[in-house]
Amino acid sequence: MKTIIEPFRIKMTEPLKITTREEREDALIRANYNVFTIDAENCALDLLTDSGTGAMSTEQWAAMMLGDESYAGSRSWKRFESTIWDITGIDNIFPTHQGRAAEAILAECILQPGDIVPNNSHFDTTRANIQYRGCTALDLPCPEAYDTAKESPFKGNMDINQLHRCIEEHGPEKIPFCMITVTNNTGGGQPVSMANIKAVRKVLDIYKIPLIIDACRFSENAYFIHEREKGYQDRSLLSIAQEMFSLADGATMSCKKDGLANIGGFLVCRNNEWAERFRNLLILREGFPTYGGLAGRDQEAIAVGLREGLEYDYQVYRHATVEYMAQRLVKIGVPLVLPAGGHAVFLDAKKMVPHIDSLDYPGIGVVNALYLAGGIRAVELGSVMFGRRDDEGQEHPSPLELVRLAFPRRVYTQSHFDYMIEVIDEVWQHRNEIPGYRITQQPKLLRHFTCHLEPKG
Ligand code: F0G
Repeated sequence: MKTIIEPFRIKMTEPLKITTREEREDALIRANYNVFTIDAENCALDLLTDSGTGAMSTEQWAAMMLGDESYAGSRSWKRFESTIWDITGIDNIFPTHQGRAAEAILAECILQPGDIVPNNSHFDTTRANIQYRGCTALDLPCPEAYDTAKESPFKGNMDINQLHRCIEEHGPEKIPFCMITVTNNTGGGQPVSMANIKAVRKVLDIYKIPLIIDACRFSENAYFIHEREKGYQDRSLLSIAQEMFSLADGATMSCKKDGLANIGGFLVCRNNEWAERFRNLLILREGFPTYGGLAGRDQEAIAVGLREGLEYDYQVYRHATVEYMAQRLVKIGVPLVLPAGGHAVFLDAKKMVPHIDSLDYPGIGVVNALYLAGGIRAVELGSVMFGRRDDEGQEHPSPLELVRLAFPRRVYTQSHFDYMIEVIDEVWQHRNEIPGYRITQQPKLLRHFTCHLEPKG
């Protein structure tokens, strides 16, 4: 088999600033050891997120020039709407400025204080939007989701027994909808099988509970189903995506991921009464229903991007980059979540630096070491992001201490990945020198973005 090549060539470049170790040490100190607050230009390889950080294609840039900026009923809206309709088959379509705006409208229109929303794993903005309404966001991932080394094909699945139990315990009237996130971002970017979505649907049908898909990475999920689930090998990714959405009553979407755009999102639903409520709130919060939070040119870029994300060769290449990095790291012996996810490689910091206690933040130790060694910006998904304080102020660690290296779409080439592997190898060889950290200053909510840290000892 020949090398899988990038199915594009480059016609516009953006310089990367190559920094010295001294410059990076200085930048990290000025950022109070929190990479979120380092200037992007000082992060040569920025793997903080795959959200809105992708490169658009010539077709997308060309489509932007066709942007129709009419307030109501523009041609760009028509193209945006018909593309989403083709993929989802859902009639009521609302453009939003990004995924969390769709979540906020859904939560504000449908939830009452005290309600429960199950999901395989909620993303943090989804959880926050649900909690903001005085409700509970419940994670019900399958048991193997917590075993980082277990090679199982659909570790993003929901635990069907737990879903049953949750509905029996709380009663269907307390659960206005259930969600399923494809792929499961917080669970390591792991896919959900079609069989699992069908099983969730079957349970919900008994109780007449609607199913909402968090569709941010639906094309990557469709690709995994094509590769790993029996009976889907001859199907196009579009038809697999259509089948996934056919099982849902609605969806929230961040087009900054599989829309291959730098901004944008949408909310869709089948229920016309829900749609009426969404429309009213959309006008209040985002904009007139045919543009929502978006310029016409953004709608054009998204309409093209959604289709490009479903191209098989694009997904083959994307998955090959993730696998390339994961396989080489396995060879070196670096512990990571296996199998590799759809949009990122997740290092297992707990196993990488076992000398650092969870409450001394091993994930931060690894993130900062990666930055110092090679200007790579990653993100901690561990006790700083998910740690919990009880009523006495006692801190409880997160069950997993992961470091996410998220891959922007169509941005980095193989030599960039080779360099990243060399940097991770260097960090791995010197892992015993990595210090733990303490937090010296933190806000009440979402502390990972802005807290100040310092190395211990
Ligand atoms: N749902 C999932 C599964 C996500 O991963 C994200 C964003 C959102 C919803 C919210 O979408 O950012 O457009 O408002 N995830 C990004 C990340 C930020 O880095 O994983 P948004």
